[in-house]
Amino acid sequence: MEMTQMNEPLKVALLGCGVVGTQVARLILEQGDDLTARIGRPLELVGIAVRNLDRPRPEMLRPLLTTDADALVARGDIDVVIELIGGVADAGRLIRSAFEHGASVVTANKALLASEGETIFPAAERAGVDLYYEAAVAGAIPIIRPLRESLVGDAIQVVMGIVNGTTNYILDKMTTEGLDYQTALVQAKDLGYAEADPTADVEGFDAAAKAALLASIAFHTKVRGDSVHREGITHIVPDDIRAARDLDCVIKLLAVANLLDDGRISVRVHPALVPNSHPLASVGGAYNAIFVEAAAAGRLMFVGPGAGGAPTASAVVGDLVTVARNRARGVVGPRQSLYTDRQVAPMGALQTRYFLRFRVTDEPGVLAAVAGVFARHQISVQTVRQMPVDNAALVARDTAELRMTTHLATEDAMLVCLAELRASPQVRSEVRFIRVEGL
Ligand code: HSE
Repeated sequence: MEMTQMNEPLKVALLGCGVVGTQVARLILEQGDDLTARIGRPLELVGIAVRNLDRPRPEMLRPLLTTDADALVARGDIDVVIELIGGVADAGRLIRSAFEHGASVVTANKALLASEGETIFPAAERAGVDLYYEAAVAGAIPIIRPLRESLVGDAIQVVMGIVNGTTNYILDKMTTEGLDYQTALVQAKDLGYAEADPTADVEGFDAAAKAALLASIAFHTKVRGDSVHREGITHIVPDDIRAARDLDCVIKLLAVANLLDDGRISVRVHPALVPNSHPLASVGGAYNAIFVEAAAAGRLMFVGPGAGGAPTASAVVGDLVTVARNRARGVVGPRQSLYTDRQVAPMGALQTRYFLRFRVTDEPGVLAAVAGVFARHQISVQTVRQMPVDNAALVARDTAELRMTTHLATEDAMLVCLAELRASPQVRSEVRFIRVEGL
């Protein structure tokens, strides 16, 4: 390469200048010399597309601002577009335009990749450019590249993680301070973790998109966000948390992808009891963690801040440096590996353990009748505990709470068993049902 080319800056366009974008711009501008040395070419931030020019922003960014994202991307001389505007429609259009104009893309947009990855990844390949997205899953934690590159020679069996900081914060507060869901949610909003509309986090949509991306890479197949089974945390009550504690467990919102015996994969997001002895149990606050089990490597755990401006910017700028290095050498990074074409199994095919909690009439023969329901569905009970009902004023005196855990059972069998329990004359309350993972 000639000296003039080596010194020519790689041009970078930034789309979005919110909490993460501002930190990305700051890192690019403040660490210019180091990044140049690491890449072998200087980086030049040539424009930042924003919706509103009047919002307060660092003074040094003002000369770079524009409201015309489409024109910025279509300049024709951009090497790398960093997409941080979020959402699907505008971000998708701009990323496709970046590819058409020869730019590589770094994005944190899990919703877009989980819903339109089937067309976006091939578009990058056709254009001969890179599409990197480390920041889309678990903020600062390196997990995309370890799965895609470091562990690509191994056979991954399970990826199981806490990939949403907001819900982990809420469940942690419910666990450590005995708060109810609504009070913990208000605290999460006050601290800026939860959005004004928290649906994407608390109903598991954010985690489901991340689960789809993790499962796709880990199992070399295409998994869409909407094929991930999804349950949120809004129904978890303090009594569930207390009952879990009595079993030496905590309740976590998990994203789980695992290989089934028949070669299909199960990909799901739901609250789960996790034993205190499991490494994920001690991940508190808004932290994220991803536990990986692979045939040769064994058990690995990746942990760190899963959101926030500077941590997410670290992952974005890491991708930027990698993509810029590729660009400077005229190469592209590894492509999506989809060769297994594995099917996502319906939830009914899942085999896991279950925790159930419900009130029964406290009289002779009830336990035998309940045990009979499990036996009829070939579900083996692991533990049973009968608890006195605390609030005697609210329930009849002849009522007790049963807390049961099962050995491995299929979800199909468990659901039929649940329906029968719910219809049983001895059962005097709703039947609470939470899966148990990590045993
Ligand atoms: N809202 C997410 C979380 C971060 O709470 O973890 C972005 O995916």
